[in-house]
Amino acid sequence: MKKEYMKLIKGAEKARKKAYTPYSKFKVGAAILTVDGKIFTGCNIENASFGLAVCAERVAIFKAISEGSTKFEAIAVIGDTDKPCSPCGACRQVISEFGEDIPLIMANLKGDIKIKKIKKLLPEAFGKNDLL
Ligand code: THU
Repeated sequence: MKKEYMKLIKGAEKARKKAYTPYSKFKVGAAILTVDGKIFTGCNIENASFGLAVCAERVAIFKAISEGSTKFEAIAVIGDTDKPCSPCGACRQVISEFGEDIPLIMANLKGDIKIKKIKKLLPEAFGKNDLL
């Protein structure tokens, strides 16, 4: 396990504490590492209009993009799950927009870790080439 991946998991764990989850009570944290070494973090943010909840991964990635970072080394996600926290389909699609080879580091609070590339988690994803 690369040292920078451990740092990313720690960042995701810290961000998870800020999750706004009065409805599900399920807190998730995420952190994304840019190619130039910056880390952007995110937590899930729910709403009284339940369908408007946004996942931690998308908060982290949208923060990065909106600050001008578009190239990524890895993304970590952590939740209090039995197995390493697995990102939802919508987040897989959003991450895949920025690179099918991005390693997704899935973690839980017990210290279990699983790493898979986004293209493995979302095979044959719809992408920009399909629009040509
Ligand atoms: N959630 C995430 O933040 N990331 C995922 O990949 C899965 C689900 C959040 C959304 C919602 O606030 C809560 O977990 C329960 O679904």
